[in-house]
Amino acid sequence: MSLPMRAVGDLTVSAIGLGCMPMSFPEAIDHRDRSLATIHRALDLGLTFLDTSNIYAPTWDAVGHNERLVAEALRTYTGPADLRSVVVTTKGGITRGEGETWGRDSSPSGLRAACEASLAALDIDVIELYQHHRHDPRFTYREQMRTLRSLMDDGLVRRVGLSNVTAAELVVAVEEVGTPADGGIVSVQNEWSPRFRGEADVLAECTRLGIAFLPWSPLGGSTQAHDIGDRYRDFSDVGAEVGATAQEVILAWLLATSPVMIPIPGATRPATVDSIVRALDVTLSREQIARLDATQPLMESMYPEDQPRSPLG
Ligand SMILES: NC(=O)c1ccc[n+]([C@@H]2O[C@H](COP(=O)([O-])OP(=O)(O)OC[C@H]3O[C@@H](n4cnc5c(N)ncnc54)[C@H](OP(=O)(O)O)[C@@H]3O)[C@@H](O)[C@H]2O)c1
Repeated sequence: MSLPMRAVGDLTVSAIGLGCMPMSFPEAIDHRDRSLATIHRALDLGLTFLDTSNIYAPTWDAVGHNERLVAEALRTYTGPADLRSVVVTTKGGITRGEGETWGRDSSPSGLRAACEASLAALDIDVIELYQHHRHDPRFTYREQMRTLRSLMDDGLVRRVGLSNVTAAELVVAVEEVGTPADGGIVSVQNEWSPRFRGEADVLAECTRLGIAFLPWSPLGGSTQAHDIGDRYRDFSDVGAEVGATAQEVILAWLLATSPVMIPIPGATRPATVDSIVRALDVTLSREQIARLDATQPLMESMYPEDQPRSPLG
């Protein structure tokens, strides 16, 4: 099946990806078969972009859980999709420790160890797109970018991206690693939804440089996604006008925001994937987009930053 596609650097992927994180929430681990079926459904319907991370796991001692699940889904897939066109992106830089403590490690040895563990969990020799998950305040952002770049230089990863980045950090990253045109940063994954609009300058710069912008928690996150149309009535009102659900309208609105937008909604059920793919068929008028742009976000982040920002360097 052929869906609208968008660019991530030199790669072409479906214009909406699949966020795999909720499949590793504690409440989902008893539904492993359903999670595998969800990824298989996504592949069947033509989604070719899967987002995971080393830290997506039900407990601290199960780091790599989601990456192993994605690897299993690809290994057991028997449907019509050509798996050579499927891009799996993972992330490193956040740590989980005993007692469910969360930390950061973008030291040269720490990020390399995380990347090597991701290669093993995904059961691959090279990661197509490796995203720096969050900054580590012990190092300047420039130092962290050099470390990220070294993973590419040493052949562990083919492309690199950023996550949870400010406009000022993006400038440093582009200075240090480059743009998509010169084999540098190909993606930015920041929070963006009706609930939380990120820094507009980051999206503007991604659009200008052709860096894919992957809005995370695009439906407001797992706790709000199902009833987000009740919280932001304009999305359900527009949905009634175009014959779509509020969630489908949100995804269509994000796609209309910039040609570099590639939403990565999370899902744990095959039927959710069906709706995600339907969103690719929703067309919004200029007037509807303007109305949705004007909705007021809560600006309450799903996963607020808990560390001081790194010096830029
Ligand atoms: N870089 C970062 O720091 C960061 C942080 C958070 C998330 N992420 C990434 O972003 C992805 C998405 O974020 P998220 O999972 O937190 O939040 P989300 O995509 O806003 O919400 C996920 C929930 O939305 C529901 N859903 C998805 N599509 C739907 C549709 N068309 N209609 C109705 N419900 C729908 C799913 O339901 P069901 O479970 O019922 O299928 C799922 O529970 C994650 O999976 C992860 O890959 C990255």
